[in-house]
Amino acid sequence: MNRPDSVIIIGGGIIGCSIAYGLAVKGVRVTVLDKGALCAEASTAAAGMLGAQVETHQPGPFYELCKASQRMYPEWANELQEISGISLQYIGKGILRVALTEEDEAELKSRLPWMDGAEWLTAAQTCEIEPALSEAVRGGIYFAQDHQVHPLYVARALKSALLKLGSSIREWTPVLRLIIEGNRVVGVKTTDGDLYAEQIVLSAGAWSPSLLEPLAFKLPSFPVKGQCISVRTETSLISSTVFAKGCYIVPRLDGTLTIGATQEEIGFNKKTSLSAVSLLHQKASAIVPSLSEVEFVSTWAGLRPGTPDGLPYIGQLSDAPGLTIATGHFRNGILLAPITGQLVTELLTGQPLSIGLEPYSPERNP
Ligand code: FAD
Ligand code: GLY
Repeated sequence: MNRPDSVIIIGGGIIGCSIAYGLAVKGVRVTVLDKGALCAEASTAAAGMLGAQVETHQPGPFYELCKASQRMYPEWANELQEISGISLQYIGKGILRVALTEEDEAELKSRLPWMDGAEWLTAAQTCEIEPALSEAVRGGIYFAQDHQVHPLYVARALKSALLKLGSSIREWTPVLRLIIEGNRVVGVKTTDGDLYAEQIVLSAGAWSPSLLEPLAFKLPSFPVKGQCISVRTETSLISSTVFAKGCYIVPRLDGTLTIGATQEEIGFNKKTSLSAVSLLHQKASAIVPSLSEVEFVSTWAGLRPGTPDGLPYIGQLSDAPGLTIATGHFRNGILLAPITGQLVTELLTGQPLSIGLEPYSPERNP
């Protein structure tokens, strides 16, 4: 494939924006369309952990994909900062994954043989790293490479960089449907008229499947709600992100802690609930007891684009030329943004792929 002259990206979350950024840097004319403001859905509901290790439960191509994106992050963040003038608040500190139950300890220990550099820490060793941990902590693993960014700043940096690179950003412009000629996807019908481009990228997160209906293609992706809370403590309690089964606590540069996250498959429902606030607070206090008395700052929820096998969809359909799909990043879209941007840019500009896309084919059987 030769470099396309023009590309339309449907959905300006972190995935659409990182693809737009990859293409814009190569000189491609990009238009990003979003039904609302850029990155106002899952991408800024996220905690911002770059958890290639903490979020992976088995070895294989997906772990390698996560690690590849993690390795790209420092340079990607620097380049974005240089172009945009906005820091992504990249923090190069690791994540302490702790076990509170025998079962969780066994799951964590089962990762040791294949997870490079992972070592089991006793309860006393975990407390040396984070003295505020509960006595109920049985031990854990410190994932030194699992750093973090602040998703709000990533979003701002991507938007600013795209504008500086001359890309067109059209917010509050929902795509109503794909325009198909023969079997080729040639454009999109929006609330603001029809738009055409040589290539169309579908990166509309949890909303992606409905746009594929005219192609009679059923993408098995669905929304998975996640609610977080933000709290402030009088003194700093932890310095690294602490992650246990079903709950993580992420310290921010502004002194707040982000506590996440619920995981609920209840459709397109982003309502926040007091019961989730209470549950997250309880879970966090079981890990760090001094969190039982904190100032509540805020709560929010977002819809992760889930898939049956937990892997993203990155690639093209065999009988719909002109269309590329990039969605389904579930719990790892912030981590996977740089590699997804790179892979889709390679795919669309005819460069050799740095990682094979077979495991991520939208046509795979889940
Ligand atoms: P989205 O951010 O949802 O973007 C899709 C965009 O498409 C939206 O802006 C939407 O408005 C737009 N859109 C939809 N339909 C249309 C249409 N018809 N026309 C035009 N535009 C449309 N990942 C990590 O790596 N680390 C974390 O720590 C982390 N924490 C998380 C915590 C929570 C609580 C949640 C909910 C998610 C978390 N994630 C995390 C996952 C991550 O947020 C997602 O995987 C990622 O944001 C998905 O990005 P996206 O661009 O595909 O989707
Ligand atoms: N990756 C953290 C979450 O999705 O909640």
